[in-house]
Amino acid sequence: MKIAPSLLASDFNSLCDEIQSVSCADLLHLDVMDGIFVPNISFGLPVISSIRKKSDMLFDVHLMITEPERYLSEFAAAGADYITVHQESTERAAECLKTIRSLGKKAGLSVKPLTPVQEIFPLLPLCDLVLVMTVEPGFGGQKLIPDCLEKVRLLADRKKETGLSFLIEADGGIGGENLSYAASFGLEAAVMGSALFRFAPERRAEEIHKLQAIG
Ligand code: DX5
Ligand code: ZN
Repeated sequence: MKIAPSLLASDFNSLCDEIQSVSCADLLHLDVMDGIFVPNISFGLPVISSIRKKSDMLFDVHLMITEPERYLSEFAAAGADYITVHQESTERAAECLKTIRSLGKKAGLSVKPLTPVQEIFPLLPLCDLVLVMTVEPGFGGQKLIPDCLEKVRLLADRKKETGLSFLIEADGGIGGENLSYAASFGLEAAVMGSALFRFAPERRAEEIHKLQAIG
């Protein structure tokens, strides 16, 4: 299982140390919120370009912003490796995915809990990553909605049928207690915020290694 610690749950007073404490993980998940697509505001371009100078991790940027097509090249320039947009945030998801790839980055598409995953099936050939929201986006520390995992299974089946190679990632309410369960649906990567950052910084690497061994 690939583990993607979500910086949203870290202590923003010491971002560099916080990132260092999870640097053995596979991806660093960066939640960008605009206060419109979701009812919360987090951080954006200046923070990402600034931490890019201090970290070699793969940056998994999750854009919870309306009309993300307005900012794709800026997030690419800021140092994103994966850029994920929401199906519900734009009329032009296909165009977004193509643009992200043309910028030399990995393209991700996310679905909120109430969006049927079948809606994005036609776009899967354009995706390097699919992010299944397992909570309503906007806040860390919520409880996983188990029904959303069915979408992971549908995506895993579709991936087998088509031979496509997108990564299946889930986001929200995932922790050590439900990761094996999520893995049984075919999950390949798990975003983890509060479940990871609640450990003291010196304990996190050991936890990540345990979680990576699951699935
Ligand atoms: C929620 C964010 C998540 C969040 C996950 O909108 O997309 O990435 O940080 O946090 P936990 O793991 O605490 O649910
Ligand atoms: Zn996220």
